[in-house]
Amino acid sequence: MRTIMNLAQKKRIVLGITGGIAAYKAAELARLLVKQGMEVQVAMTDAATHFITPTTMQALTGQPVLLNQWQDEKGMLHIQSSRAADAIVIAPATADFMAKLAHGLADDLLSTLCLARNCPLLVAPAMNRQMWSNPATQRNVHQLVRDGAVLLGPDDGLQACGEEGMGRMLEAEMLAQYIQAMLGSSTTGHAMQGMHVLMTAGPTYEAIDAVRGITNRSSGKMGYAIAEAAQEMGARVTLVSGPVALKAPVGVQVVAVTSAAEMFEAVKQHVSQADMFIGVAAVADYRVAEPSAQKIKKDGHGLTLQLVQNPDILAYVAGLPEPPFCVGFAAESEKLREYAERKRQSKKLPLLAANLAQQAIGADQNEIILFDDAGEHQLPRADKKTQARELLRHAVSLYQKGKMQ
Ligand code: PMT
Repeated sequence: MRTIMNLAQKKRIVLGITGGIAAYKAAELARLLVKQGMEVQVAMTDAATHFITPTTMQALTGQPVLLNQWQDEKGMLHIQSSRAADAIVIAPATADFMAKLAHGLADDLLSTLCLARNCPLLVAPAMNRQMWSNPATQRNVHQLVRDGAVLLGPDDGLQACGEEGMGRMLEAEMLAQYIQAMLGSSTTGHAMQGMHVLMTAGPTYEAIDAVRGITNRSSGKMGYAIAEAAQEMGARVTLVSGPVALKAPVGVQVVAVTSAAEMFEAVKQHVSQADMFIGVAAVADYRVAEPSAQKIKKDGHGLTLQLVQNPDILAYVAGLPEPPFCVGFAAESEKLREYAERKRQSKKLPLLAANLAQQAIGADQNEIILFDDAGEHQLPRADKKTQARELLRHAVSLYQKGKMQ
């Protein structure tokens, strides 16, 4: 009898290693994948062999490492190896190798293997922050995602060159977790493959003075669950997050912000690439007009704060000349249906998810009513991840219908 474990053991990964210092992490990744019961076939570029030896990789995987096209007499290694794989994972993926992938170049075994594949391609970038933010690299990233590649990372932090910023490869443990989740996920499918989802989540914090501020009780759980679910369904996810105590979902690009103004700027920066925008954040409607740089001292009298209205991020995105498909949220404490539908109409949203603030904020479960042009759809009470999947399925079907019109 074939058990679930047996099925998992049959998964075959081609682990492509390209020439960057993060290549050393590929050894740990190979070890973890083998430990998870996967068969790992390593393929290395010539540059990668300067950072880590094929002997190390062979010892960890128990398989001879693929190095060049001519190892096989018939010269069909690229076809054989890619056909046998359930996924190809490039970790680390250098800026140069990503450029090759984006342009369909095939001048070595690994790039040829990627071009000849008929399985998912997962790419874990690793490079200096300046190389990552270079418009050329960003163009290639965008192209790869459009072509259906799944981007894992990169991460923010200290880099091998001593600089700090975006471009670190995700840790091997995170990559292994993600690969397992992806290969094991038969329930969610990959309905969002190739899509870029931009989201907001969590609260914002509006400073009153150096130590005090106005915020709310949003934990970020709902937004993070949606980000995770979208990622599992194949989307590239950028999550603009207010201050929360949650770990960044694996493979999701998190842009951490504090105030509504910062959230607005981050959204404006990323929105041109987005196919879908989901506003889950509990954005403060007002900020203090003139926050004090110093701690305000009490003087025995009352204190009057003048508040000014923050920009409405969701309304801005929905009002763009060519907006992404927009999904709004409404947290109401009363008259849920009436206020939610009014909000959807006023912001001209194709879809809005309404929940009762007192039940939803901070909780692990939620009860959502979806409002669209066809009316309302009640989602049964469930944990936030289940609600997230249902919401995304509904959003994707509307998004696809819209594209066909
Ligand atoms: O984070 P959790 O603890 O898991 O809680 C989840 C939640 C209750 C916060 C979430 O499910 C939710 O309902 N989020 C929206 C909360 C909200 O502030 O709704 P609103 O009715 O004020 O705003 C309507 C919509 O406009 C929202 O999509 C909001 O993100 C967006 N908005 C609001 C104001 C503003 N200045 N900019 C915006 O983009």
